[in-house]
Parts: sequence; structure tokens; C-alpha cells
Amino acid sequence: MTDWGGGYVTDVAYLLGFHPEQSPAHMALTALINGVASEVIEQPEGLSYLELGSGLGFSALLLAASNPSWRVTAIDFNPEHIAESRAFAAEVGLRNITFLEADLAALADSPPEALVPEADVVSLHGVWTWVSAATRAGIVKLLRAKVRAGGLVHVSYNALPAWQGALGLQRVVREAGRKLAGRSDRQAAAGLETVRALVAASARYVGTDPFSKQLLERLNDASTGYLAHEFMNRDWQPVFHADVATALAEAKLSYVGSARLYENFPDLAMNEAQRTAAARFDDPLLFELIKDVSGGPALRHDVYVRGARRLGENERNRILSGLTLVLTRPPGRFAYEIEVAAGKATLNRESYEPMVEALAAAPRTIAGLLALREREQGRATPPEIAAMMVGSGQAMVALRPGAGPLPELDRFHAAAARRVGRFDTLARSIGLASHRLGSGLVVPALELVVLNRLISEGAAEPSAWARLIAPGIDDAQAESLGKDIARILEERTQIWRLAGTV
Ligand SMILES: C[S@@+](CC[C@H](N)C(=O)[O-])C[C@H]1O[C@@H](n2cnc3c(N)ncnc32)[C@H](O)[C@@H]1O
Repeated sequence: MTDWGGGYVTDVAYLLGFHPEQSPAHMALTALINGVASEVIEQPEGLSYLELGSGLGFSALLLAASNPSWRVTAIDFNPEHIAESRAFAAEVGLRNITFLEADLAALADSPPEALVPEADVVSLHGVWTWVSAATRAGIVKLLRAKVRAGGLVHVSYNALPAWQGALGLQRVVREAGRKLAGRSDRQAAAGLETVRALVAASARYVGTDPFSKQLLERLNDASTGYLAHEFMNRDWQPVFHADVATALAEAKLSYVGSARLYENFPDLAMNEAQRTAAARFDDPLLFELIKDVSGGPALRHDVYVRGARRLGENERNRILSGLTLVLTRPPGRFAYEIEVAAGKATLNRESYEPMVEALAAAPRTIAGLLALREREQGRATPPEIAAMMVGSGQAMVALRPGAGPLPELDRFHAAAARRVGRFDTLARSIGLASHRLGSGLVVPALELVVLNRLISEGAAEPSAWARLIAPGIDDAQAESLGKDIARILEERTQIWRLAGTV
């Protein structure tokens, strides 16, 4: 076998998935909260969007279906990924998306470079800390050549120091796995078994720190495909935020803020003493370092800009006030207590309940939400409302508040449903497309399958659907699946309407 992968896993395909941090609307919100203007909000039509390392293409396909006026280009070097992505696009009938099979290590210096258009928005999810130094250098070169002035770039990566206690864990998974099995998903599973045996044997440097303990817990439910792409790459290497910022500076990109919106608020990211330590420095890189050592995330989702248009506070708040929010969680399930790095943040019910009630009826602008609570003291500001509601995954920004469903969205959901129909994948998260949001709702795959059946069949039949969705399940599984389907229909129809998905 030739190693065209340069050390990256190529024998097992990645998974379908959607991450709202990759959507231009969310990146633009991140920029605005941090006082940087974005054309995505000012003129959401006609964008050129580029995804580097697009896997099975699900996110890029969802964004192309949700935004027919955009030109979407997605690049991956794995021909299986590109073939699957192109077949998906053809099934939906999408004409605004191109999949390019190319190696990011060499693309900037090779003829297919001409096929990559200039981009207003770029995303690299799950790539930076899993690929070789040569690939990272190629990515920087491509970004330097292709990102337009004012353009936004999203990059996610395994961050230090959060991952430091798990360095031994990853190395054991990879090295032991490679000795114990053939295909990389089986290697990852075998390597993880070795780790668990070492944990049981009280090995001092495996699974002993709090992060590794949580990680091992989470990995109980992880698919072996995910494990392979997370742990089996030769050049897997978590990094500090400043290392990424230094590398991307070569592409004239500067750090704007975190797409995990709470992380932009020192009060939510650090306790008082940590903030005092951070306040001694006005160097933003050092500020991020202190945040990360205080309890920063293991997977950072950062947004960069090429040429920031800085906004004054009043202008920033005026633009934010004009944004429309869409509720993405049923009002009865809205969480007012939220876990943040600094502990728990509590949303004042007197202030937030009327906003949630209003949003349950229809999407509202932030200005409209603020007007509901005009007479109160100590009002939350537009950035706080946006960060708390969107950052907690309970609301999203509508890029086109007045827009309704599109026929390609139904075709997108049908094509996606054909790919997630297996019983063991129904709990995994995926995305529903929305023209109104210009992005997608993160939902369990079962919800997508149920939505697709409702659209194609009209009347709902939860018990009959359980048997059709997961043929071969036993009676107890069918009963439990039928109940899940009934609950989705009862609770989520309202959210699909609010998001303009139906
Ligand atoms: C973890 S996956 C993430 C996929 C996708 N962004 C997602 O979130 O579903 C990383 C992807 O990067 C691709 N990749 C790795 N090295 C690459 C290279 N040198 N050139 C192009 N693609 C590469 C892999 O094939 C894989 O699909």
C-alpha cells in the first residue's frame, strides 16, 4: 500500500456530522461579539465558502443546500470521501458545490490550485492537530492565497494544556493498536483496550488526570471510525493557541475570538483570581494562555479574520440588536443554569423567561427581546443575550429571518436519511438544513429520519415507523424507539417551524 496519506488515516472513512461553528453566520456572530464587523451579516448572499479537509462532506453539503446563492468548495485528499460527497450532492441536485480531491500539503503549489476560488469564509474542522507539519504549511499557503480581505476562517484543534495528561493515552492507543490489528478502526479499538487495561492496573500516567478520566468515559460510546481519525494519525499533536495564531499570521490572519461563545467573556471563562492574573497583560495571546491553563477547552474552535474592521461598542451593539434569534430548544426544556469554565452561570429567570416565551412564538430580534424587559434594572447587553442563548445551543441567529423552506432541503434530508438509517447510528448527532438560519440545527440522526418520514408521508405513525426505521429490532427496542419518535414529533415540530425547516 502506498502512503499517499502522509501519515493520516486513509483506510477508514470519517463520519457524517455537522458543527454550527463551521457556519458563516456563527463565525460572523463570534466576530461581532468581539467587536469585528463581517460582510456575512451585511450581505449574506453570494458568499464563496471553502472547507479544507471536508471528510464525507456533510457540513459543506448542508451549507450549500441551505444557501443556494453561495458557491461552496470542499477539499479532501481521500477519494472515498470525495466520491461519497459527490454522490450525495448529485442525489440532492445541488449545483452550487464542488468537491476537489487534492492533498493540502501540495495544493497551493500545484495546478489544481486554480480550481480553488477566493473565499469569504473558510473552515477547517478536525484537521490542524491531526496532520503533518507539511500539510499545515500547505494550508497556511493556501489561506494566504485564497482568503479575501475581511474574510473569516474557523479552525478547530486539540488544545494544550487540556490534552497534556492524555499524551500517553494517545501514544498507547496508536502504538499498541498498530501491533494488535490491521485496519485503523480495529487498531484504535484494540489500542483503547490496552489503555483500559493499564488504567485498571493503576498505571500512573494513563487515565489518572481529570481530563483523561472524562475522555475515557466519553469514548465508551464513540464509534471506532471516530477513534481511528482521532488517535491513529502519525502526526497527532495538540498545540497551544499561540502556536496556531503564529502559524496563521503568515496568512495575514489575526485571532478574533472563540466560536464557543462563552469563552469570549472573562467572567465566564475564569474565576476572579484567574482574571486578576490575566489582567496584568494586554497581550491577547498571553490572555488566551492564562484562560487555557485556568480551565480552557480541550477542543478549541477559533475564528480568525484577514483584516479586521473594528467596531465601536455602540455600533457593535446596534448591529447585534438587529440580529434575529431562533429558539432551537423547546421552551419547557430551556436550561437556565449553564456550565461554564468558571463554574455555573445562571440566567435570571425574570429576564430570560419572557424572552424564551416570545421566541417560542416566533423568531425575534435581540432589540425586540430587550424591549420586552424595558423597565428592569441591570439589563443584559446584546452580546450577553446572543452569547448566552446561542452559546448554550438553545438559539441560533437567522441569516434570513423572513425565509421559508426550500425544496432542496427536503431532498437533502432524504439523502441524509438514506445514509443514517442504521439502528446503531440513530443516536449520533447530525444536522437539519435551514434556509432561514443559513445553517443547520444539531440533532440526533433519529430526528432527521423522523422529519424525513413526516415530509414524505404526512401522517405520523410512531410504532409503525420504528419497525421501518430500524428493521430487525426486537419488540422492546421497537417500543422504546416508537416512544422516542412520538416525543420528537411532540416536542420538535415547533422548533422545525421556527427554524423554517418545514
Ligand atoms: C477528522 S476529519 C474531519 C472532516 C470534516 N471536516 C468533518 O468535520 O466532518 C479530517 C479530514 O481531513 C482530511 N485530510 C487529512 N489530511 C489531508 C491532506 N493532506 N489533504 C487533504 N485532506 C486531508 C481527511 O481525509 C479527513 O477527511
